[in-house]
Amino acid sequence: MSEPMDPIRSAALRRQRLAERIGEDAALVVPAAREQPRNRDVEHPFRQDSDFSYLTGFPEPDAVAVLTPGREEGTFTLFVRDRAPSAEQWSGRRVGPQGAREVYGADEAWPIEALDEQLPQLLVNRDRLIAPLGRDERWDHRLLTWLQAARRAARGRERAPQRIDLLDDNLHEQRLIKQPDELEAMHRAAGISVAAHRRAMQAVQPGMREYTLAAELIGIFHRHGAEPAYPSIVAGGANACVLHYVTNRDELQDGDLVLIDAGAEAEGYAADITRTFPVNGTFTGEQRAVYDIALAAQKAAIDEVRAGRDFDSFHQAATRILTEGMIELGWLEGERDSLIEQGAHRRFFPHRTGHWLGADVHDVGRYAVGGQWRTLEPGMVVTVEPGLYCPPQSEGVDSRWHGIGVRIEDDVVVEQEGPRVLTDAVPKEADEIEAMIAAVHSAYYEDSD
Ligand code: GLY
Ligand code: MN
Ligand code: MN
Repeated sequence: MSEPMDPIRSAALRRQRLAERIGEDAALVVPAAREQPRNRDVEHPFRQDSDFSYLTGFPEPDAVAVLTPGREEGTFTLFVRDRAPSAEQWSGRRVGPQGAREVYGADEAWPIEALDEQLPQLLVNRDRLIAPLGRDERWDHRLLTWLQAARRAARGRERAPQRIDLLDDNLHEQRLIKQPDELEAMHRAAGISVAAHRRAMQAVQPGMREYTLAAELIGIFHRHGAEPAYPSIVAGGANACVLHYVTNRDELQDGDLVLIDAGAEAEGYAADITRTFPVNGTFTGEQRAVYDIALAAQKAAIDEVRAGRDFDSFHQAATRILTEGMIELGWLEGERDSLIEQGAHRRFFPHRTGHWLGADVHDVGRYAVGGQWRTLEPGMVVTVEPGLYCPPQSEGVDSRWHGIGVRIEDDVVVEQEGPRVLTDAVPKEADEIEAMIAAVHSAYYEDSD
């Protein structure tokens, strides 16, 4: 595999491109993530904010990045925690303002305490302030205070920003189109996730707890220096019909399917894979019928992930096949297109077929522009994840289908030549899955003879 990306060098190139995009009349201000308390004296593991990380590569909380294109003293200002030996004894070394300049390439760096004093100055003579708003009340309040202070500080012919823009049309548009170094990181995150899913298929046994199977996946992530990009879903039997099932405590039953939705985050980029397979290694007739419909829908949808198609077309392709399947299985009665028009298919396929994927598992970027679904372009990455779920006690549906839930999810890069699937090394043909599990079982029985 290729070398890991250099986050500091990548960030410098991204700032340069973003500075050109926003122009010299704008100032962009982005905060680092905050440490989040979990319970008494315990914090959640720190995860840097994706926007901040993309632009700085800087790993600490309590920091703010400012981009002021064309500014004489330099474009890039960082506010960071000051060095403090006594605090560092407890929580590790801090980079400090000097390190922010020398290592992270800031043109100017200040201790975070200087923010209220320095930031308004950086806004003077800028027409637009670009910053996140509406995510965090404390931040929103501070931002308005700095704006007010910039107005007071603007003297004579100087100006203060007249407009606040969110990050959607600038930074997030840039993040939506992945550069080669980002695609390589995503390829590595996908590779680790593929290894984890293959491992889970080989480890599954009736009687195992869902969390034991989850541990197999997480063990592979950690052994590759990665971590879960989101809480893993390991859902045996009817638990697969609960879309956000994350308790993972039940016993896996002989004769049930298990649905695993898990992905690694590596070098700050996520993978997002779902596979559904039989706990005992063999699909029942009903499970196989549902599975093959979901798989046909997924393959048809992947084939629609092409430059020039709109974001909705792969969802429509999946919806048509899934709805035909619901009719075929006797879950719905009627004619395909009118059932879709009424939304009747949502009873068994209640979510969309995919989302942007990147540094965030549900990555940034608009899905529609001017009220129209946006057109797919090379460098965009989507998940393709149709599912078919018949919850227990589904009225009007033969009970032999109850509790069967299937989803199949891959990560797909839009390329000029067509879709490139990053995650196709996890088996998804039913026969392939059965063969893979059977190979493990026969090795086991030979060993124990
Ligand atoms: N794992 C989250 C999702 O599939 O969207
Ligand atoms: Mn997923
Ligand atoms: Mn997904």
